[in-house]
Order: sequence, then structure tokens, then C-alpha cells
Amino acid sequence: MQLANTPITEHCFQHIPFFLKRDDQLHPHFSGNKARKFMVLLDGHYPLVQTLIGYGSPQANSLYSMAALAKLKGWKLEFYVDRIPTWLAEKPLGNYQAALDLGAHIIPVAESHLHPADYIKTVRKPNETCLFVPEGGRCQLAEYGVSKLGAEILAWVQSQPEQKFVVALPSGTGTTALFLHKFLSQYGIEVITCACVGGKEYLTAQFNLLGESSHPEILELENKHHFGKLYQQDYLIWQQLNQQTGVEFELLYDPMMWRCLLEWYPKNQDKQLIYIHQGGLLGNASMLPRYQRKYGA
Ligand SMILES: Cc1ncc(COP(=O)(O)O)c(C=O)c1O
Repeated sequence: MQLANTPITEHCFQHIPFFLKRDDQLHPHFSGNKARKFMVLLDGHYPLVQTLIGYGSPQANSLYSMAALAKLKGWKLEFYVDRIPTWLAEKPLGNYQAALDLGAHIIPVAESHLHPADYIKTVRKPNETCLFVPEGGRCQLAEYGVSKLGAEILAWVQSQPEQKFVVALPSGTGTTALFLHKFLSQYGIEVITCACVGGKEYLTAQFNLLGESSHPEILELENKHHFGKLYQQDYLIWQQLNQQTGVEFELLYDPMMWRCLLEWYPKNQDKQLIYIHQGGLLGNASMLPRYQRKYGA
């Protein structure tokens, strides 16, 4: 199965004209940056593998994407989590529910008093029939698929009248932004990002861990922004984005990047923005009710 060549659409937000790379449309179940990061596993031949093994939050986008990948490959997915909150176990929704529907085995390990990664290493002990993927796909494996995303952007840029293109995307582990920068910087295309998890120093350390010394530019907000915390301004921006573009954005990462871009744009009006829609929309099923409870519709 070949998944590639997502469309690029044209929009305007708060007077910022921009192009949108619709990676949310890669595949109904296997889309966004997780699909790009795990693409090497979809395309590769792994005759011995029967079980895909990962860990993280029971609400993570990566759980759903790994479940979809396992299904596409005919593998079993074992996904280790610290614990499954009672409310989620009683009323599954979002990524958790979709992963269960795809046959994922979601295994809580809190009783062992081990971190899920340590549990996998010391208790589960994967053998040659298992394929282990680090949390959020933060690994070298991701470069293959993210470079393909870069190549699609490059081909599109080359078909456009000459302009100074800048590619923007928010970061968690920074894997997607880093490998995109590695590919596109060869062609003089700038990549900008923001650190949604842990701040600029954490993100720079993540980039270094991935073995690259040339990094994308990291934009920052004036005040500290905490991952997963509800900010009224984020909710407003998300609503305005939906209204002005007719596209649903993701609630955990996208609002912070757009807040940075609103500050960045006035000094960079000569540049043409390309924003990457990195999917993750199922996560909105749990984020949106939280925002609505706090701030109303
Ligand atoms: C929608 C969305 N945007 C951005 C990110 C951050 O990606 P990365 O960890 O590659 O920086 C994620 C997490 O993978 C995500 O799900």
C-alpha cells in the first residue's frame, strides 16, 4: 500500500495567507505525522514480525496510529500504559476507543511499579517476532517517512512561482520538524516550529538526541505554555481557525503554533507560509469536551 501525495489547500487566517499540507487526509486510520514517522514500517518487509509493541498514554495519537498500522500489516499490537483512567475505561472515546476497535491490546502496568518502557524491557522482553517502537515514534526510523513528506513539499514548491517558502509545524518530540528541516534545508526552504512539550531547551535536547546538529528555528511565546493545560486563548484560536478556514485543526498542538505565527508574521510578511496539518483529530474528542466544560461552547 502506497500512502503519499496529500493535497495542499490555500487559506487565510487573521490576514495571514497560507498553504495547508493536508497530512490529516493520508488515510482514514493511518494519517498525520505518526503515519509519516511509521511509514518505514508500513513499506518494509518484516517476515518474522507478529507483534508490534509500544507504550505511552492511553489517549495518545500514537496508540491509534500504531493500532492502524498493526491492522494494515496483520500484526497484533501490544501497547503498554501506566494506567487507564476509570472514566476512560468505563466510557471509551477518541484514540483509545478507536484503537480498541482496531483490536489493540492496551495493557496497564502501574501495579508492577515500573515505567511502561522498563516493563517492556525487563518483563515483556520482546523477541525476534516483536517490533518495538519508542514513545511517539521518536527514533531514526522516522526519517524515511518524514523525508518523503519533505519531497512532496519540495515538488509542490518547485511547481509554484518563485517565493520565499517557510514550512511551519508544532513539535512534541520534535522528530517531524527535525527530519523535515534536514530534508528541506538542502533546498533553502526554512522550517519553523514551537516547543509544545517542555520548552525550547527540552526540544533542543531532543533534536540533539536524534543526532542532528542543524535544527529548525524554534518560535516562543512570551509566557510559559504548559502541555495539555487548557488556555482560553488556544480554544478561541482553534475556533477561529475552524471558522476562517473551514478545516478542523487539532487542539493540543496547533493552537500554540498559531499563537506563535500570529507574532511571527508581521515581521515576515515577505515569506509564504506552508503549514503542515499533522492529523491527530481523534484526540479532539476528549480535548473538546474539556474545553466546553471550562469555557462553554
Ligand atoms: C497532531 C500532532 N501535532 C504535532 C505532534 C508533534 O510531533 P513530534 O513528536 O514529531 O514533534 C504530534 C505528536 O506526535 C501530533 O499528534
